[in-house]
Amino acid sequence: MSRRTALKAGGLTVAGLTLSNLFAGCTIDSGGSNNSIEGSAGRLLKSRLTLPAAFRARLPVPPVLEPVSVDGTADHYEITQKAGLASILPGVLTEVWGYDGLFPGPTIVSRRGRRTIVTHRNELPVPVSVHLHGGRTAAEHDGYPTDLILPVVGGDRHSHHEGATTAGSRDYIYQMNQPAATLWYHDHRMDFTGPQVYRGLAGFHLIHDDVEDALGLPSGDRDIPLMITDRAFAADGSFLYPSVDPSLEGTPGVTADYMSGVLGDCLLVNGAPWPVLEVAAVKYRFRILNASNARRYRLRLDGGQHFIQVGSDLGLIARPIEHEEIDIAQAERFDVIVDFSGHEVGDEITMINERGAGRTADIMRFIVTRRGTDTGAVPNRLVDLETLSPDDVSVEREFVFARGGARAHGMTLWTVNGKPFSPDTLIAEPRLGTTEKWTIRAANVEHPFHIHLAPFQVLGRNGNDDPGRYNHGWKDTVNLDNGGRAELLIRFDGYRGRYVFHCHNLEHEDMMMMANFEVV
Ligand code: C2O
Ligand code: CU
Ligand code: CU
Repeated sequence: MSRRTALKAGGLTVAGLTLSNLFAGCTIDSGGSNNSIEGSAGRLLKSRLTLPAAFRARLPVPPVLEPVSVDGTADHYEITQKAGLASILPGVLTEVWGYDGLFPGPTIVSRRGRRTIVTHRNELPVPVSVHLHGGRTAAEHDGYPTDLILPVVGGDRHSHHEGATTAGSRDYIYQMNQPAATLWYHDHRMDFTGPQVYRGLAGFHLIHDDVEDALGLPSGDRDIPLMITDRAFAADGSFLYPSVDPSLEGTPGVTADYMSGVLGDCLLVNGAPWPVLEVAAVKYRFRILNASNARRYRLRLDGGQHFIQVGSDLGLIARPIEHEEIDIAQAERFDVIVDFSGHEVGDEITMINERGAGRTADIMRFIVTRRGTDTGAVPNRLVDLETLSPDDVSVEREFVFARGGARAHGMTLWTVNGKPFSPDTLIAEPRLGTTEKWTIRAANVEHPFHIHLAPFQVLGRNGNDDPGRYNHGWKDTVNLDNGGRAELLIRFDGYRGRYVFHCHNLEHEDMMMMANFEVV
């Protein structure tokens, strides 16, 4: 089935979406693309209902997915992508498109070296593609933007293949040959990643290993993933997104006036608005993920409480780093310890967003409700990390992320080196097993750079010879300020094949700020 038919199939059953209601209330302003609001490229979309008071909802923790079968070397999981009704705001239900109908999706927990096989079945009305963000994954299982799973449309068509497109369901095979880390999985359908992630297609995928076990970090119900997102709601409680109807073939997922990024006015953690977590006066481990489409955050805990960072995107860092505040761009992960042991029962600690204004300045609250027996101190050496050096570099490349160089549908697109994304062009062919130095420059607004497969270390930023406070260890995403520059040492290892790198502002990505590389 061609992409054309796939898009049509997707458009048939999109409930309740019409162009006229999508455009209602939006003013077309393509000049709005250079907006930077609250430190984030994008445009604020306001909810059409009254948002609830903060710190009333309990923090949900996504369920851990149980394998359907386990053998000597592999754990097998099944996920059905489908619509579900979530109770996010009081008095209304929100339709989510979720993994197992949930937002966030269930958390997958893998062990290093054991294969994880996930069968995804698509009962949504649109095509999907599943990407394991941060995964060292073979190209055919990486969720390439046009490797689609078409809707089941009444009947199981598991074995029907045409090209890379599969009808109904398919298996994704992950070797899990990588260190303990906080990964996440999300939709990656070409042109529609923004709207489909916004509707709920995102979940955590954690990897554990022996090195991590030996550190004695807080675990069990003291190891909690926190997925931060921003959303806007329609009057009936549904998610509001300035979508173009997917039945319109060839059109991008977001309307022109929001192509700089969709910023919601309601902050959700694990799908709940400004929630509260009751804690004991002990140490906790929080795996913080910014899964927002376009919003960046500057996190701080009030009352002088610090974060102790133990991990970054792709695993534990060499030594813990204490932060008063954390800048987190879209798709980045910060694995942190927060030590509540200095607090009294009854104390409240609020996580705030220093980039926010009004309601978006609050994120969530911790309330100390009991004493507890603490785990030991955080070790001051965590893992031995190999440090890449410029001496290892075989090839240097430079990529400019900017708006311009190409137009479509009357809009100036977001591009990489002036070219819009096309599945048919390669921008780089790194050799398997080599390290390259890439310089990434950002223009017009800020852009979080993300690359599939290949982990990197930040060598320098904005002309400085150090990675900056927030870029320690192995990363897969790095934030670039407007006019900023990052020098990265990237290790191309694991697999040959075609992959993408792109801006993780999902509206920029959908509006073509993405490129292919092939590991040869
Ligand atoms: Cu988080 Cu290409 O994606
Ligand atoms: Cu990725
Ligand atoms: Cu961007």
